[in-house]
Amino acid sequence: MKLLSAALFAGTAALAFASTAQAEADGEAVYNQACMACHMTGAAGAPIAGDAEAWGPRVEKGIDTLYDHAINGFNAMPAKGGNMSLSDEEVKAAVDYMVSQVQ
Ligand code: HEC
Repeated sequence: MKLLSAALFAGTAALAFASTAQAEADGEAVYNQACMACHMTGAAGAPIAGDAEAWGPRVEKGIDTLYDHAINGFNAMPAKGGNMSLSDEEVKAAVDYMVSQVQ
């Protein structure tokens, strides 16, 4: 239930984002709109943004793997955070933003 409400929240926030999306992907804005619901709280086991211990082993897999998992989904991580209206570039920018928090 927690996951579902987080996903619903993310979806609603993402819709609001889509209508104001700019040509250039702003990773922080995408994160705030589409990823924060899970990645700030750790909902469903999401690695919390800024938690170096949680992100270390993931970053070691390589940025391309993280892009792939963010875009196509990975276990409880929904594809594009559940917001299919995001472009691949926007999702990658959000990954870069989260990774930049721990490096
Ligand atoms: C509904 C909750 C939820 C939302 C929304 C969400 N994530 Fe996740 N994310 C997860 C969970 C849960 C995991 C951990 C999956 C695992 O390791 O089994 C995860 C893991 C990840 C990982 C690490 C993947 C790996 O290979 O270790 C990345 C990168 C990521 N998310 C990026 C994003 C981005 C970018 C967004 C926004 C566009 C986003 N997530 C939105 C739940 C979410």
